[in-house]
Amino acid sequence: MSDTTIHTTYAKTRGQLEEYFDRTAAAAWAKLTSDAPVSGVRAKVRRGRDQTRANLLSYLPADLRGKRVLDAGCGTGALAIEAARRGAEVVAVDLAGSLLELAKTRLPSDLGEGSVTFHAGDMLSEAHGHFDHVVAMDSIIHYHGADMVRVLSGFAARTSGSVIFTIPPQNALLFVKLGVGRLFPSSDRSPQIRPISPKALGKLIAREPKLDAFTLGRTDRVDTGFYISQAMELVRA
Ligand SMILES: C[S@@+](CC[C@H](N)C(=O)[O-])C[C@H]1O[C@@H](n2cnc3c(N)ncnc32)[C@H](O)[C@@H]1O
Repeated sequence: MSDTTIHTTYAKTRGQLEEYFDRTAAAAWAKLTSDAPVSGVRAKVRRGRDQTRANLLSYLPADLRGKRVLDAGCGTGALAIEAARRGAEVVAVDLAGSLLELAKTRLPSDLGEGSVTFHAGDMLSEAHGHFDHVVAMDSIIHYHGADMVRVLSGFAARTSGSVIFTIPPQNALLFVKLGVGRLFPSSDRSPQIRPISPKALGKLIAREPKLDAFTLGRTDRVDTGFYISQAMELVRA
């Protein structure tokens, strides 16, 4: 999806997410992704996200030297750092400039052969170039199913290896539980999480000609009660 063909619903969600992650929830997100003590609910969210990050990283090759990896919607950069530790040249992109500034301060100085460069803007921009792998952890969970598939197609078009991502599996309680944690308060201006089952997403993917060269691979579900996430991968068929 080039900038000229961006769908209206995608652009609307993206605008809400920029406002939310760059300003409204920036401090809460900074704390959640740090080692600072957090409440019981948020501790469970943090534990679930740590497990999900580990699952996504397990889908990537152990040796990423010479590989280009896009961390799409990198937030404060935890996954980008781990990929760089394996030797990857990581391009870390996010809408939220304030999270990127924090991510830069969290970047270790010794990443060996690996590197991370941060860019503010849309993860789908063609300007980021071509990749061996794309990872999108909790970055597409706010988009409608059709937009999720458009985003995955956009990633796939410039990825020679795999596209690794999470979705919020169908679960009505997800809204309530995350609402309790106030990370995603249910006010009108907050971006909604849009649950979709792996099966439903699989059907949408199967119907998308732009993803004909790809097939769904490994998947893992994490449920800590307050954080429910399905890790998935698209690999070349
Ligand atoms: C729930 S946070 C997850 C951040 C990070 N991946 C993590 O797991 O810690 C979602 C992030 O995706 C970013 N995001 C969503 N849509 C994006 C887009 N179209 N382009 C760039 N970043 C995007 C948001 O700004 C936000 O920082």
